[in-house]
Order: sequence, then C-alpha cells, then structure tokens
Amino acid sequence: MKITYYGHACFLVEGSKHRVIFDPFLKDNPLAKIKPEDVKVDAILVSHGHSDHVGDAVDVNKNNKAVIVATFELASYLESKGAFCHPMNIGGAHTFPFGTVKLTIAQHSSTTEEGPAGNPCGFLLTMDNKVIYHAGDTGLFYDMKLIGELNEIDVALLPIGDNFTMGIPDALKAVEFLKPKIAIPMHYNTFDVIRQDPQKFIDGLRGTTIKGVILKIGESISI
Ligand code: NI
Ligand code: MN
Repeated sequence: MKITYYGHACFLVEGSKHRVIFDPFLKDNPLAKIKPEDVKVDAILVSHGHSDHVGDAVDVNKNNKAVIVATFELASYLESKGAFCHPMNIGGAHTFPFGTVKLTIAQHSSTTEEGPAGNPCGFLLTMDNKVIYHAGDTGLFYDMKLIGELNEIDVALLPIGDNFTMGIPDALKAVEFLKPKIAIPMHYNTFDVIRQDPQKFIDGLRGTTIKGVILKIGESISI
C-alpha cells in the first residue's frame, strides 16, 4: 500500500485494487502539486465542512465513479451540490468495495458557507488489511486511548498545526494513546497561523517504538 501526501490534510491511499483520498483541498491550496482533475479514486473521505477539507471533493466526485463518505449533514449538503454520497455518523462502520470505514469523534466544528454541517469526524480506514487513522481536524481527546486499544493502527495521520487543532505537544500525547506503527504529521505550514517545524514532532517520538515520518508534499510512503 502506498500513501501520498498532497498537503494540508489531503492524503491519497493506494491499495492493490482501490484508491481513496482524504480531504482533497487542492485547487485553493497554493502548496498542492496536483490538480483535482488528475485525481483518480474510488472514494473521497471528507472529515468536516470547512473549505480546507471539502476542497474539491465535489469535482473529484463528478470526475470519477466515486463515492463521498461524510457525516450525514455534510453528505446532505454535498448531495445538494450534485455529489454522490454515502452518509455515516460517529461510531458507525460500513464496508465498501474499497475497504471498511469507521467514523470517530473529532473535537472541532463543522460548517460550510451555507451554515452548520453536523459534527466533524475522524476516519479509521481498513484497506488491504492495513488500518489508517485520519484524525481530521481535532484537539487532543482522551478517547484516542480507546481508539488505540480497539484498533491496531498501522498509520496515524495527525494534525500538528496548533491554533485550529492540536499542536505538537498534544499530538505527541495522541501518539502515546493511539500506539500506531507510524505517525505522520499534517495540517501545518499551509497558512502562517499554523506554521510548525514538523521535525520537533519527529524528535518527540525518540525513545518510543513509533516511527515518525515527515512526508513532503507529493511524497509517498509504502507500508
Ligand atoms: Ni476545520
Ligand atoms: Mn482545517
């Protein structure tokens, strides 16, 4: 399996047969290196309604025979924009042809330009027997310990930008709770207010068994 970082909270996961993208914020992200029309996927997982996460989800959806997975209210909103969605909600899991998705809580908010969009979420994606946890935008919460107890997480994608989400110290606590094999920082350096040195996150993992990996934009890791 290959995981590629497209900046901010956007990752492409390529399994043996299927491709899934998280939070495709591309066109309006000056750092993104691919265009929405170049994205070829089976599914788009959108963590919440903020524009830096919904991004180009509707266009990517229309260009592909793909499904958008989101919480019920956000899915209803995206359907009103012509997208094909599979609504879910916190704690629920569903097995799709590409893999299994379970929604976790995220301590954040969720709005679109048209108003509230339900609760934000994180995702547990199981594909090709690998478990990927995309935390979405969130502050640290103690239930991450439970997520770590109930799941053998191969890769945790965690925000470190501070201001809107966890900063590095809280993200390191999150890693302690989640016990993933690999932790990859996200949601930093896109804007000035979330400027961070991701190396400090990696340095904070020293002495643990968890491997910290900084992916540059456009860079991939094979797991
Ligand atoms: Ni947000
Ligand atoms: Mn965000």
